[in-house]
Amino acid sequence: MVAVKVCVGSSCHIKGGVQTLKTFRDLIDEYELSGKVDLSADLCLEGCLKAPNVLVDGSVYGGITPDKAEEFFRQRILVRVDDA
Ligand code: FES
Repeated sequence: MVAVKVCVGSSCHIKGGVQTLKTFRDLIDEYELSGKVDLSADLCLEGCLKAPNVLVDGSVYGGITPDKAEEFFRQRILVRVDDA
């Protein structure tokens, strides 16, 4: 199970965190990954200066704006599922 948290706290929210969360949710459905990716929201990943942030298996990635969400999903999340 790949653990993914998308920050939707104020710093990340204003830069599209909620949209990224929706994009990830749609991609999990598209790739039929329910049960393989544990997606949730967080209110602060303590990296506000690099907002918007995403946490994948304990590593924080900054600057994941909605336009980068799909590519990030394929490069950092989908690959982990395939390796599991
Ligand atoms: S609000 Fe997102 S890291 Fe702080």
